[in-house]
Amino acid sequence: MRAIPGRESPGEWRVPVLDIRFATARSASGAVAVVVPSGSPDAALDLLKLGPADLAECAAFLEDVEHSGSAGTVHTLPRPGRKPSRLLFAGIGDGDEAGWRSAGAALARKARTETSLRVLAAHDTPPEAVRGLAEGLWLASYRFSLADTEPDPLRRVTVALPATGETTGALEQARAVVTATVLARDLTNMPSDRKTPAWFARQVVKAAAGVPGLTVEVREPSYLAAQGFNAILAVGRGAATERGPRLVEMSWRPRGAKRHVVLVGKGITFDTGGICIKPTSNMRLMRKDMGGAAAVIGATLAAAAMRLPVRVTALAPLAENALGADAMRPGDVVTHYGGLTSEILNTDAEGRLVLGDAMAYAVRRLRPDVMIDLATLTGAQGVALGKRTAAMYSYSDTLAGALATAAAASGESVWRMPLSDDYADELDGDVADLVNSTDIGAGSLLAALYLREFTGPLRDRWAHFDMSSPAWSDSNDGELAKGATGWGVRTLTRWLETAS
Ligand code: BES
Ligand code: MN
Ligand code: ZN
Repeated sequence: MRAIPGRESPGEWRVPVLDIRFATARSASGAVAVVVPSGSPDAALDLLKLGPADLAECAAFLEDVEHSGSAGTVHTLPRPGRKPSRLLFAGIGDGDEAGWRSAGAALARKARTETSLRVLAAHDTPPEAVRGLAEGLWLASYRFSLADTEPDPLRRVTVALPATGETTGALEQARAVVTATVLARDLTNMPSDRKTPAWFARQVVKAAAGVPGLTVEVREPSYLAAQGFNAILAVGRGAATERGPRLVEMSWRPRGAKRHVVLVGKGITFDTGGICIKPTSNMRLMRKDMGGAAAVIGATLAAAAMRLPVRVTALAPLAENALGADAMRPGDVVTHYGGLTSEILNTDAEGRLVLGDAMAYAVRRLRPDVMIDLATLTGAQGVALGKRTAAMYSYSDTLAGALATAAAASGESVWRMPLSDDYADELDGDVADLVNSTDIGAGSLLAALYLREFTGPLRDRWAHFDMSSPAWSDSNDGELAKGATGWGVRTLTRWLETAS
């Protein structure tokens, strides 16, 4: 399905490669899946083209297992010695895209050990259903391992629909968004011994290679110093030189684009907390602290793969927040790109520091129409909204509304939070413009207010996502595989599809 972008040497890791295609001719062997809508379990049985006795057996089976058709439920009927040899009944709920996505994910898990799977579908199945099914199948069959493990036997899924412009178009949309999500997951799952800022930058260069209209620039510490990206440098200064900071700029510039969107993603390749070191349990998963950067890179790649008519620039400020003899200290003052100063009260509030530089650069140099940033920014996000729902902040009802719609359509969850001005003076510094941390609670909101200071004239055309917890899943759950989720690729890509 894709070149493996993160792999630096053959066999370093494997991902499942599932070939999804359309074919109307019946296949001789393998398992067959039938979709079951909510409330009308028998509706889909016609598609099976079985004799009356077999049909009666299926109907009795569905009644027996009490198949309600709810999205994501799969029941398997073995039929030894007969064809098809196994029937998988997959609920699609109301039959909307989300229902098909759940069905695809559940089928990918249930059919892992089959050698092939054929999914029957009515001839009037809409393209959104195809997109949902393919996204579910692909995303749920994702695995990340550095061990030399065997991939699952399931290699091919055929969908019993003709390959028309609409169906293949939907499949290609799914492929673009899944490829980008898989890249974001791979980058985020990669342990931080390998995942240095330079390594991350190299993967971005590789992923963009050969895509027409897509360019990548990687800025090294000497450039960052000359241009005044002092906060990115400060955060990265505790790390070894080979693990020093980078600023990656990826740009998709289609001809004739009217709108320019800048996406900024937090790229902390590991967050120890710095001198304000984290306790072990809080540090364990901090290789995911570049999930925002991975998502904005992924979404930009997807925009290019879909050839969306909107200009997109992704900025990934990358640094390892380590302890070291030269690490930034509490009380230090840094001058951001563009001149704002921050007093570092807590070296563990490093994400907003690197984002401040990148956002100030975006505003001054790229002059976008819209700016969106994504960051695993605060533990407080998870306290407020839990594992699956990201916090969204924006002054624009229109932008927030469009992003919420895109999130819902793509299967990701967001909740809009307030940018309460009352707390803003808490961020005033004694010896600098800003302090990078406060003690008054509302941690996710205050981080958003801090970032606001770097939006300049874009304040009303800016949205911020705090996706600290949703960046990771503790279990296989629907289309999410245990580990990195690639959160944000789907929401951003959906939104970009409508953002021209
Ligand atoms: N990367 C963390 C936030 C985080 C926590 C992400 C848990 C994912 C899961 C961030 O850099 C951080 O440490 N934030 C501090 C901010 C505080 C010092 C103001 C936090 O949330 O405690
Ligand atoms: Mn931190
Ligand atoms: Zn962090």
